[in-house]
Amino acid sequence: MPTHLLRLRDFSKEELNSYIMRAIALKKEVALGSRNLKLAGKTVGLVFEKASTRTRVSFEAAMFGLGGQVIFLSSKETQLARSEPLKDMARVMSRYVDGIVVRTYGQEIVEELARYATIPVINALTDLYHPCQVLSDIMTVIEKKGPIEDLQIAWVGDGNNMANSWIQAASRFGFSLTVACPEGYEPDRKLMDEAVAESVKPINLVHDPVEAVSGADVVNTDVWASMGQEAEQDARVNVFQSYQLNSALLGHALEDAIVLHCLPAHRGEEISEEVLEGPQCVAFDQAENKLHIHKAILEKHLG
Ligand code: CP
Ligand code: NVA
Repeated sequence: MPTHLLRLRDFSKEELNSYIMRAIALKKEVALGSRNLKLAGKTVGLVFEKASTRTRVSFEAAMFGLGGQVIFLSSKETQLARSEPLKDMARVMSRYVDGIVVRTYGQEIVEELARYATIPVINALTDLYHPCQVLSDIMTVIEKKGPIEDLQIAWVGDGNNMANSWIQAASRFGFSLTVACPEGYEPDRKLMDEAVAESVKPINLVHDPVEAVSGADVVNTDVWASMGQEAEQDARVNVFQSYQLNSALLGHALEDAIVLHCLPAHRGEEISEEVLEGPQCVAFDQAENKLHIHKAILEKHLG
């Protein structure tokens, strides 16, 4: 198992499955009321340069739930905001805490922290990836629909950090994935080519959302403008209109298809109120599973 969790491509299928199996077991333990204090005496530092509700709270609750402690650092309050080099931050934090969970802009930032830290670094979202989120999403899919290898999964909308992590997940887990994005908003080209080359199942890129959703078991979307792209919001709303996940589009999926959204959602933009609040949507189960997956991640990397 790699020391750091920076992107899903760094892991084998067995390693990725081991997070999910452990999270499912931990979820059962909690339901039975048993306590597991495996991380008692350990501390994790959360360094967040972007907003977060779910990821922050679920990582904190996961660490507390395992008997450990958390130090939350908004980057504005650290010396990083006053240009202290990342390599110094990484080496200093390594002397205080047992792991670092980072939410930031460039993927190169988590990579540099990992290069200099002597403790595990966990990627809690960059502009390029959101690996921990996609692990919770896959856990949710497996709970609801069984083995993921047998499923046809659609991604509709922006070729963003979530789409990139889904593409790497498809190539590692071995499931069929069709990504539908507007021209000019496709996922990272190199990452897509690598995933296709390494995958046993098809990973397709199309521009027609109906083509992606037709016959799908799982339909997945996310915001049209991610954090850091606020200035593009209006332009993106125009470009993405026909990619809204609404009842008409969902009607092309299998009747028992489930809908995923990592949240936060913009109702009336990438997803309609009706679909988000409808019986096929499992967004709040995904949100819950972040707690269990983060426990599994913390246990494996810090335990
Ligand atoms: N899904 C997700 O990462 O949510 P937050 O931005 O609230 O952490
Ligand atoms: N793509 C979104 C995901 C938020 C959890 C963003 O980066 O803002």
